[in-house]
Amino acid sequence: MADFVGAVDQGTTSTRFMIFDHGGNVVGMHQLEHEQILPQAGWVEHNPVEIWDRTTTVIATALRQANLSATDLAALGITNQRETAVVWNRRTGRPYYNAIVWQDTRTDRIASALERDGKGDVIRRKAGLPPATYFSGGKIQWILENVEGVREAAERGDAVFGNTDSWLLWNLTGGADGGVHVTDVTNASRTMLMDLETLSWDDELLSFFNIPRAMLPEIRPSSDPNRYGVTRAGGPVGGEVPLTGDLGDQQAATVGQVCFSPGEAKNTYGTGNFMLLNTGTELVRSNNGLLTTVCYRFGDQAPVYALEGSIAVTGSAVQWLRDQLGIIRQASDSETLAAQVNDNGGVYFVPAFSGLFAPYWRSDARGAIVGLSRYNTNAHVARATLEAICYQTRDVLDAMNSDSGVALDVLKVDGGITANNLCMQIQADVVGVPVSRPVVAETTALGAAYAAGLAVGFWKNTDELRENWNESQRWQPSWTQEQRDEGYARWKKAVQRTLDWVD
Ligand code: G3P
Repeated sequence: MADFVGAVDQGTTSTRFMIFDHGGNVVGMHQLEHEQILPQAGWVEHNPVEIWDRTTTVIATALRQANLSATDLAALGITNQRETAVVWNRRTGRPYYNAIVWQDTRTDRIASALERDGKGDVIRRKAGLPPATYFSGGKIQWILENVEGVREAAERGDAVFGNTDSWLLWNLTGGADGGVHVTDVTNASRTMLMDLETLSWDDELLSFFNIPRAMLPEIRPSSDPNRYGVTRAGGPVGGEVPLTGDLGDQQAATVGQVCFSPGEAKNTYGTGNFMLLNTGTELVRSNNGLLTTVCYRFGDQAPVYALEGSIAVTGSAVQWLRDQLGIIRQASDSETLAAQVNDNGGVYFVPAFSGLFAPYWRSDARGAIVGLSRYNTNAHVARATLEAICYQTRDVLDAMNSDSGVALDVLKVDGGITANNLCMQIQADVVGVPVSRPVVAETTALGAAYAAGLAVGFWKNTDELRENWNESQRWQPSWTQEQRDEGYARWKKAVQRTLDWVD
């Protein structure tokens, strides 16, 4: 068998290709950003053709730089930004519209109408999700209603929908020339269209959004011995490699962090933050604003579910300091700038740019910086931004502890901002439990590689994967309980301001 497994990680801001050996070590990697298209307030789009183009480049470049070729890869996995909706023509391969990104709030009215018409509870019960702009269903409906010719094409079976996993799988396996139209259970669980118990598209849910069933991809396991397809020989991989792993990026990170037992959780710091708690084969309903979602399904084994706390804006708040305010030159400067002050100087920043997700679910909330006095500087704003990432995590962790009845004794973290030592120290201080980061912090791509490799026997079982997990760093809480309580109470007051703004 070949010595390596590859994984495409198609994220919100960039696409990367990573190659792993049997020990889970990275042996090759290439990454490219794509444009964030912001046509008006609240709208966020990506160009699917640019994403496919970036994907081909990162795959070919990573393989070339690592001096490897298709024959060195036992399998390939895909992981992706979830919910982001692409609708394309299966005959021409051309998208009808830009991808509508998970952060986009244009479907606000669709979401509130669902609630008003009493459909919200059906969606919560069947799909495990509150009606919100976040998920794919409303985005597909918007494209069907607003882009000329799409509804007719969808009825004919020419216009098809996918998240970016489906879009890439279709292109990698031949596109208009015989590409497969599939997704996995984890991605499907983010659409508001799949029944969590049957793991199939649900006619009642489809009718809420008036979406023709023929548009939707086939739902497959996240790790599939009956591969989704093979890469086309003339494509970027340069040969035929089985595609056997597909998971939404947060579920992939949960697998990469080897959270295979009920009660194990991870928190990923990307554009947003996403904490997932494995609840085993049991579907746990949240009473505290969390989502019930599919964690993974390996082959024909029973599906494993998770409770998820999704936070829309964390890393993208740091990007905002860089791109919109211009107070830092690169994301890592947020640490040096924030470290110039010992505390936030009374400043709290609630970056509710896409409304507030868990546990509030208020798409009408808008961001606020509160507590300013003339004494405050850029450094306080930078510090308040890092604290916002950590306080939002505290909101979600408290909800998770209430739902599951179990308090986490350590918070396993991964993703970009975990390289920011100050932020991780603040995180431990704010939640009052140790924070632990593994050696391989690229757990998203690793999880997709694990799913792909398990399907072809590259890894025998999850115990083998557990052996690959090693801690690289741990941060211990240093604040007193009084400091923690006082800071959190002020955070909650600041959150209230972002809700009051629109009331
Ligand atoms: O649900 C959205 C999530 O999948 C996006 O993750 O890492 O691209 O910010 P990320």
